[in-house]
Amino acid sequence: KVLVLDYGSQYNQLITRRIREFGVFSELKSRKMTIAEIKAYAPKAIILSGGPKSVYADDAFTIDPEIFKLQIPILGVCYGMQLIAYKLPGGQVAANNGNGEFGQAKLHFSQQPSLLLAGTPDPQTVLMSHGDSVAKIPDGFVLAASTDKTAIAAIANDQAKIYGVQFHAETTLSEYGNDILKNFVFKIAGCQANWQMKDFIDLQIDKIRAEVGDKKVLLGLSGGVDSSVVAVLLHKAIGKQLTCIFVDHGLLRKNEAEMVMASLAGKFGLNIIKIDAQRRFLSKLAHVTEPEKKRKIIGKEFIETFNDEAKKLKGIEFLAQGTLYTDVIESGTDTAQTIKSHHNVGGLPKDMHFKLIEPLRTLFKDEARELGEELDMPHALVWRQPFPGPGLAIRILGEITEEKLAIVRDSDAILRDEIAKAGLEDNIWQYFTILTGLRSVGVMGDGRTYDWTIAIRAITSIDGMTADFAKLPWDLLGKISERIVNEVGHINRVVYDITSKPPATIEWE
Ligand code: XMP
Repeated sequence: KVLVLDYGSQYNQLITRRIREFGVFSELKSRKMTIAEIKAYAPKAIILSGGPKSVYADDAFTIDPEIFKLQIPILGVCYGMQLIAYKLPGGQVAANNGNGEFGQAKLHFSQQPSLLLAGTPDPQTVLMSHGDSVAKIPDGFVLAASTDKTAIAAIANDQAKIYGVQFHAETTLSEYGNDILKNFVFKIAGCQANWQMKDFIDLQIDKIRAEVGDKKVLLGLSGGVDSSVVAVLLHKAIGKQLTCIFVDHGLLRKNEAEMVMASLAGKFGLNIIKIDAQRRFLSKLAHVTEPEKKRKIIGKEFIETFNDEAKKLKGIEFLAQGTLYTDVIESGTDTAQTIKSHHNVGGLPKDMHFKLIEPLRTLFKDEARELGEELDMPHALVWRQPFPGPGLAIRILGEITEEKLAIVRDSDAILRDEIAKAGLEDNIWQYFTILTGLRSVGVMGDGRTYDWTIAIRAITSIDGMTADFAKLPWDLLGKISERIVNEVGHINRVVYDITSKPPATIEWE
């Protein structure tokens, strides 16, 4: 296994992920790990990640130089390389002296090619992002490569198997980054590609069993991918010691609650308490029109409903959550800066003192999905499109009523049905209907109508941060429009949203 020590770069988990993709187990661990702990962990290789600080900062993240004597191959990336130069005799780091380099750059090899870069082309494009730079190479090292702006862009000590790259080899913006990481992991450190998602499951099951013992665990199930995968994983580890609470707030899509129950309680035999809280949520949302207010009410009500039920259960010590790595990094960690605070609707009840279990913390969304597949979960559940915590409430512009809920639910079901029939489910990132607050004049049969407008939103995206509207075929849109107007009451007009994000957002509220 490869140990990655966390010095706070936004990319640090990408390193572990790349290595896992090579079939070698890798974990990101705190930079505070002691030499004794590292020895006990017994990694075959160590990577020191990048980070936002300068080695000269008062609160700089540092390293115990004893690590370089462990005879374990080490690769420093960005800040990691600067730590090597700063800590080893003969090396020197120049503080931000205008020699920083940001963005893609051409990397040229030096006279002394190293094992690290072997087999990759000279020159090649790499991603640079640093203020400080290495000014002097430590004793025993050679210069391996430079860019026009950064004289010392890669250093190597083939003898001691210690290497540094100033560029971010883990991002796809470094053209041959993967090959360089592979050189380190396989050729230099001698790792074998024999790790699979199945092993991750076994490892997590052992961990969960050791931690939980014979105690009980509670889980808030939303029906989404993350909480469902955690639920199935925990059930595999501790069976009936797991209780799930599934709050049906009445804002889910058509047949969604039934599908979740049929699959997780039915097929997998999970112990799920389903709370039918539709009335409770609807009465709190009555006459509320402002989007952020809706979100707040739903978030608060969700936690209270969950709490009310949790209080009835006795002897629960642990709370499990489907937190993913992206949630962790966006909420800020010991080393990484906060980008935005994490807003899962099933947030942790504040006045309850559970110990947390978060087995997916190190995974990315697509890895969580792969895990779900490995656990034999249904394809439709594992590849479910993103669905916001506040559900259909933010797809009804303005006030929410039971009648309007039925309209979005039915129109959304038609849209999903037609997209599935067209075989486009896996090509569109998210698709849904919106009940706009707009009424317009129409003619149906021989009569004048004055009814609501449904909007269709279908987008392609990688991560939901930016999006483009999906170029759905006209005849498919025509079919959907025709069915919605005919099958759903009080709709006389259907429009297609053709804005990207930005400037629009994906949801309308
Ligand atoms: P926007 O509308 O911000 O949506 O472009 C980006 C992604 O986030 C989802 N979304 C939410 N998810 N609670 C959530 O859990 C929310 O309040 C919320 N608002 C938007 C949206 O569905 C899209 O996938």
